[in-house]
Order: sequence, then C-alpha cells, then structure tokens
Amino acid sequence: MQKNTMDLLVGNLWQVNSDKLALLCQNAAIPLPKLLQITIPSTQQSQTFSAESVRAIAPALLNQKLPASSIEAAKPYTAEPLVSNKLEQNAPKPQITNTLEDLNWEQLAHKVSICENCKLCENRTQTVLERGNRSAKWMFIGEGPGEQEDLQGRPFVGASGQLLDRMIAAMKLNTEEDVYIANVIKCRPPRNRNPEPEEINSCKNYLLQQIKLVKPQMIITLGRYAVQTLLDTELAVGKLRGKLHHYQDIPLIATYHPSYLLRTPSAKKDAWDDLQLAMRHYFNG
Ligand code: URA
Repeated sequence: MQKNTMDLLVGNLWQVNSDKLALLCQNAAIPLPKLLQITIPSTQQSQTFSAESVRAIAPALLNQKLPASSIEAAKPYTAEPLVSNKLEQNAPKPQITNTLEDLNWEQLAHKVSICENCKLCENRTQTVLERGNRSAKWMFIGEGPGEQEDLQGRPFVGASGQLLDRMIAAMKLNTEEDVYIANVIKCRPPRNRNPEPEEINSCKNYLLQQIKLVKPQMIITLGRYAVQTLLDTELAVGKLRGKLHHYQDIPLIATYHPSYLLRTPSAKKDAWDDLQLAMRHYFNG
C-alpha cells in the first residue's frame, strides 16, 4: 500500500499514515477525534471532515479492504498526540460558551460535532444529534446517547429505541417521516450514568435550537431529564405525566422513558395513555 502521511488536526495534532487511518476508520469501536483535517499528499489539498464522514470516505481513501486481525494491531495508534502536553498547557484556553445563537442546521450540526463544553467529550466516539425528519410535526426528546447511539451516531437505535419505534408505530406515525428524535445531551456519559446538571446546562441550548428549527406541533418528553429541562422543574415524571404542558407555545406531553418501560412493563399502560392524550390534543386541537 502507498504510505500517505496525513495530518489530523483536532485540538491535538495527530499524525497517522493511511493504513493506520484505515484501521481507525473501519473499526467503529475506536474513537476518532471529532474533527479531522486531512491533507492528502498526492493533491496537497486539505479538507475538514467530521469523524463520521471520515468513516464514510474511508473505503475511497483506502481503496482496499484490510483484514480484521490488523485492527487489533492498530489500537495503540489511536492516541499519539504529537504536540506535547507542555505546549498544550501553554496554549490559550478556548472560551467555553453555549449561548442560544440563531444557527441554521448545518451550523448547529457542526457546532455540536466539535463541542467540548463539558467533560463528556473526552470519552465519546461521536456526538449524537438527531434522527428523523427535521420538518416533522412531532418531536420526541430522550435523555442522552447510550452505547449503540454513541457508536452509530443516531439517537434511540438500541433496545430502548426499538421500543420507542414500536410506540411511534402504534400511534400510526412513521419514524423517519412524521417524527424528529433528539436527546437532552449529545454525548454518552461513561457507563450510561445519569447526566450531571452542568452537563445538561452546557448542552441545553443545542436542544433549544433544535426545537426552534424543527418547530414541532407536539413535543413528547421521554423520562425526567427532558421534561425537567424544558419545563424548568424538578418534579418527577409521575407528577408531570397525564396532562398537557407547554414549552413556549408548543404543546408538550411528558411520559416515561422507554428504558424505564423495559424495566417496568406495568408502566406501559400509563405511557400509552400519555401518547393517546398527545394524539387527542394534536388532532382535536
Ligand atoms: N436513551 C436515550 O435517552 N436516548 C437515546 O438516544 C438512547 C437511549
């Protein structure tokens, strides 16, 4: 294989050659830096890619398949910063702000993909922004990515996502067309622990901007973090469910999180009542 040296510029400077990059790209379990600036020596052109798109262009970059056995061998190369820690310490610290700006979808997606506003960025494979139709009338909001979501870059694609899909299908809605799905936080907490208040705070404006752009006609919150964040309350879901709320002017129904329903099947009836209440409000006004 031709050895191309590529500079991957993130906040750290990473340098890998094309076969190591291939191994990183082809194994979704290996975290890539969030943003990669790749210089391809043959053209001397430099372009910035998200980790997700680098994985997608990997086959074109490589033009060959690598044996699975070599993936193991590549793991040590995932953390090879060329800039010394001393230099990094001397570098000016970036200002961390997350004010609600008027971003379009492209700007929002980019900002989220490189976000380092809280410590969750350190362990994520990638950020998880959305799934579904950005012009949907229904918006479902969960808590944050789990293992599968972190690997695949889409919300609710694991076990609780399968239940959510069945709930949406039972409402006679199409998951990809009628619905937009997001989370309160965009990075997976270690071992799926609960998000901490400062993590929610530093991520909250991304969700608010998503709602602003989607302009849904009905919001369904799944679990306590989504409803508590949007309604600015500390009340439990059990106290908030079963009635109509509003986030700004948008009707909002709170219900249980699908992962709670998987652990507590007896609560499924209440969740279905909540979804029916939402449908009644949506269709009858
Ligand atoms: N749980 C959530 O709250 N969101 C996901 O995306 C997956 C599981």
